[in-house]
Amino acid sequence: MNNEIINVAIDGPAGAGKSTVAKAVAARLGFIYVDTGALYRAIGVNALRKGIATSDKPAVAATLGDVKVELAFENGVQKVLLNGEDVSAEIRTPSASMAASDVSAVPEVRAFLFDLQRNIAKENNCLMDGRDIGTVVLPDAKVKIFLTASPEIRAGRRYKELIEKGSQVEFKDVLEDLIKRDYNDSHREIAPLKPAEDGMIIDTSELDFEGSVNAIINAIKEKM
Ligand code: DC
Repeated sequence: MNNEIINVAIDGPAGAGKSTVAKAVAARLGFIYVDTGALYRAIGVNALRKGIATSDKPAVAATLGDVKVELAFENGVQKVLLNGEDVSAEIRTPSASMAASDVSAVPEVRAFLFDLQRNIAKENNCLMDGRDIGTVVLPDAKVKIFLTASPEIRAGRRYKELIEKGSQVEFKDVLEDLIKRDYNDSHREIAPLKPAEDGMIIDTSELDFEGSVNAIINAIKEKM
């Protein structure tokens, strides 16, 4: 890896605040923020559009033959393109979340998205957010952070976000979905969600937004 490029891996379960917090940290450092979950979400949306059961691994793998997923960055803001179409909004629905979790357990999907993630990191100072960035995608990342919080706190944050976007959801359903996704993501055979051995765990249950941003910036400073 080019020595001048700095990569920060941020992994952790759904709703730990990775996206909002990591985005702010990246802006302060002048790095690009790469949300890798968006890639799995795009593959999930593609499968849903084709009417495929996202739990059917061979069927999901078969969708990869004619799909193109790209990330574009405009003023530091990431967009996800599915076969050239901007699906950045469509990938955020609860059904897309569950589809993403399902397709992310398919080895062919992970292999399909691997080079795309690696190539972005090779060429840019970036904070890359996902589940397996520090363990699999960027094992040489300079800094590895595992951001987490209790399930109730994470579900509360997700619930607030969805309500603010106008979705009609119940807290108990958001919590149930999140626990199910945590289980899926950490029990799959390939690249399961877990802290990197050489990473740092940051629990944001008791931290507000600014506290979480500072905790990550301090962790990065400590490592560099
Ligand atoms: O971060 P997110 O909620 O947008 O991720 C959506 C799903 O994609 C999540 O359930 C797990 C999966 N994912 C993954 O397996 N590996 C990644 N690097 C990022 C996301």
